[in-house]
Amino acid sequence: KPFKRILFTGAAGNLGRRLRERLHEFADIVRLSDVADFGPAAPHEEIVLCDLGDRDAVMRMCEGVDAILHFGGISTEEEWAPIMQANILGMVNLYEAVHKLGIRRVVFASTNHTMGMYRTTDLVDATMPPRADGYYGVSKVFGETLSRYYWDRFGVETVCIRIGYCWPEATNYRQMVTWLSLDDLIQLLHRSLTTPRVGHTITFGISNNEGRWWDDRHASFLRYKPKDSSQQFADKLPAEVQYPPADDITTFYQGGVFLHNGPKYRP
Ligand code: NAI
Repeated sequence: KPFKRILFTGAAGNLGRRLRERLHEFADIVRLSDVADFGPAAPHEEIVLCDLGDRDAVMRMCEGVDAILHFGGISTEEEWAPIMQANILGMVNLYEAVHKLGIRRVVFASTNHTMGMYRTTDLVDATMPPRADGYYGVSKVFGETLSRYYWDRFGVETVCIRIGYCWPEATNYRQMVTWLSLDDLIQLLHRSLTTPRVGHTITFGISNNEGRWWDDRHASFLRYKPKDSSQQFADKLPAEVQYPPADDITTFYQGGVFLHNGPKYRP
C-alpha cells in the first residue's frame, strides 16, 4: 500500500460514507475524522472527532499521518459563519499542521463552484482565473490558493480536485455534464496520491461524459483515465431536461442552481 497511515476528513459526509470501505486500498491504517459522530472504527481504522476550526485539535488530528484526503467542511452554499469556520479557518489550521508535521501530500476536495460564473458555453481550464458563484466557491478558491502558497513557499504537495457532481445518478442536464462516478473518483484519488511528483495541481473531477465544460490537459501527467460516463443515464432523462428553457439563468452559468443564491451573511 502506498502509505502507512492516511487521514480522511469529512468521514461522516456523503462522499466519506461512500468512500470509506475503499480507503483501505491507500494505507494500512485509515484515520477518519469529522465534527459529527459516525460510529465505531473498523480494525484498520482510527476515529478522531475534530472541528476544523479548532487549531489544537487539528494539529492532534494530523499527528502521525503520511498523507491527507481533505473532504471535510461546508459543502454547499451556506451562511458565511460556518463557511469561515470550516473552509477558511479550517484550511489554515490544516496547512499549519501539515507543514509543521512534515506531511508530504494533501488531496483537497475543491469544487466546480470555484468556476460557477463561467458560462456553460465556456471551456474552462486550470490556468483560467477562478470565478466562484458564492461564498462556498470563494472559500474553495481560498483553499486552492492557500495550498498553492504552501507548495511555492514550503514544498507541500497538493492536488486540488474540482469535483463535479459526485452522486450515484445524474438526473438533469447539468448533472449529466458534470457527473463523477465513485470508481472514477477513487482512480483520481489514487493517481493524486501515488504520482511521484504533483507539486500544486488543479484537476477536474469528472467522468468521461459528453459535452464537458472543463479541459483537464494541465493535469494530464496524473494519467487519470475516467472509465465511466453519464451516458448510462441518458435514456432516463425526459426531453424537457435535455432542452431546458432558454431564459433560465441556471442554464447560462456553470454553477447551475447555485445561481439562485444570494450572499447569506447575517452579522
Ligand atoms: P458533506 O457535507 O456530506 O460532508 C462534509 C462533512 O464535513 C460533513 O460530514 C460535515 O460534518 C463535515 N464538516 C462540516 N463542517 C466541519 C467542521 N467545522 N469541522 C469538521 N468537519 C466539518 O459533503 P460531501 O458531499 O461528502 O462532499 C465532501 C467534500 O467534497 C466537500 O469538501 C465538498 O465541498 C466537496 N465536493 C463534493 C461534491 C459532491 O458532488 N458530493 C461536489 C464538489 C465538491
